[in-house]
Amino acid sequence: MGEKDLRSRNWFGRKGKDGFIYRAWVKNQGFPDYEFNDKPVIGICNTWSELAPCNAHFRELAESVKHGIWEAGGFPLEFPVMSLGETLMKPTAMLYRNLVSMDVEESIRANPLDGVVLLCGCDKTTPALVMGACSVDIPALVVSGGAMLTGRYRGKSIGTSDVWRYHDEVREGRLKQEELSTIEAAMCRSCGHCAVMGTASSMACMVESLGLSLPGNAAIPAADSRRKTLAHLSGVRIVEMVKENMKPSDILTRKAFENAIKVNTAIGGSTNFAIHLLAIAGRAGVPLTLDDMDHLSAGIPLIVNLQPSGEYFMEDLFYAGGLPAVLKELDSILHRDCMTVNGKTIQENYKDAENYDKEVIASLDQPFNKVSGLGVLKGNLCEDGAVIKLSAASPHLMRHTGKAVVFENIEDYKARIDSDELEVDENSILVLKNVGPKGYPGMPEVGNMGLPKKLLNRGITDMVRVSDGRMSGTAFGTVVLHVSPEAAIGGIFALVKTGDTISLDVPKRSLMLNVSKEELAERKKELKLSLPSVNRGYVGLYIDHVLQANEGADMDFLRGKSGSQVARDSH
Ligand code: FES
Repeated sequence: MGEKDLRSRNWFGRKGKDGFIYRAWVKNQGFPDYEFNDKPVIGICNTWSELAPCNAHFRELAESVKHGIWEAGGFPLEFPVMSLGETLMKPTAMLYRNLVSMDVEESIRANPLDGVVLLCGCDKTTPALVMGACSVDIPALVVSGGAMLTGRYRGKSIGTSDVWRYHDEVREGRLKQEELSTIEAAMCRSCGHCAVMGTASSMACMVESLGLSLPGNAAIPAADSRRKTLAHLSGVRIVEMVKENMKPSDILTRKAFENAIKVNTAIGGSTNFAIHLLAIAGRAGVPLTLDDMDHLSAGIPLIVNLQPSGEYFMEDLFYAGGLPAVLKELDSILHRDCMTVNGKTIQENYKDAENYDKEVIASLDQPFNKVSGLGVLKGNLCEDGAVIKLSAASPHLMRHTGKAVVFENIEDYKARIDSDELEVDENSILVLKNVGPKGYPGMPEVGNMGLPKKLLNRGITDMVRVSDGRMSGTAFGTVVLHVSPEAAIGGIFALVKTGDTISLDVPKRSLMLNVSKEELAERKKELKLSLPSVNRGYVGLYIDHVLQANEGADMDFLRGKSGSQVARDSH
């Protein structure tokens, strides 16, 4: 692309009053005149926030990106977008993913940008930024924030997946509440996102396997100086990408999505991956369905030994060779010719990678677990699908029929789960309704509901659980999630009653409510839908327009592209 074709010339290249206004106000930051002369203007889309602790180091990271952009002859302009702190936001960060994607899309479109570097870290920030950038489709490159250093407590490595164990230990009385504050500090001991293969790490691996980041991006720890080096090099590369006019649509082919699904399976990635990838595909205009998640992952084993499916942490994955070493192990099943942001194919990027630690990265022939990936379930209880993380589920529960213990909503669950009166045993199936996209709203990570205290005290560690919500990528158990259609819009899931039997058959990918059609029809007549009554602002808009989980939970009006052309200006 020649300088005259730069999108930013439509601002900074103008003569007369318009050009004066566009340049003059930016000059108030001390930029000399020549910066406005035919240089690619690169936006740095920053999700820095002290309220998103996983991204709290992004001011520094942005400086490294800027160094690279200046060095390559670009003109960097950093801008903030709404950030999403997974741990702090109520009712749930997922409610705002689509809002952030709109912020990103419109911020890029409205401004004089020729390319953009997306600084992402905590779970939802990655899909939100990628979704927004895809809808505009100017050159874009992702720099992830990197994971925290591994936590250490009493000589043992700990990470986010241990939160659930410690929580259960406190409930059982085996761990004192006061001890938790020591563990809190020991677990989160550096900047960065969760150090296990949770959603944030899965998203970092997703962007690298899609080809949207430089190789090695996924696993460099946040606190490692090489993270800054990668940010610097990303700054250099985005300037070249603008000159080559390499856009997300040149990278995000159907084959790239297939690679991402295969990689997510082999690494034991998060169930949230399914929702986010479907949403990104919807923006990119690439046909992708929930069923693709299942058949493309079929037969691919777990070759990365990271919690929650295995033992280790992201730091260990980095030392073992990072994602390029994993991709090399997957060479025989990947589409090798997919283009990536550095102008090389994915295979060219991983062909020289080495696996330094077979305890952390195994091979397809000798995996850590032959079972991995997402099972997509169908049946009358989830006509449009539900998912289960195969490597996190207990083998003895993969085929299970049990009586439902139904909680109508999260408050009902919290009020009764530890009650002595609750009629429940280890064969029961816990059912949680009204935690879906519209029903909660925002589809919180509550699907891995903690087990009843009386069963924990008997040493029961897993039960079948079914909900229309999500679970943290750091969680585990035989947990059926994302039931679609959700209860709040009147899916059959809304009709389940305590005492009904449910049959889960994972090998057959089936989830059935064993109640006759006639009885279900009677129940449907009595059903009162329980959509939250919010009629204003973003949340009202979200409830009206959010799609179901099997379609990525994007807004119906956001799918596809707006493009980078803005027809009118105001000066
Ligand atoms: Fe941010 Fe886990 S809370 S990645």
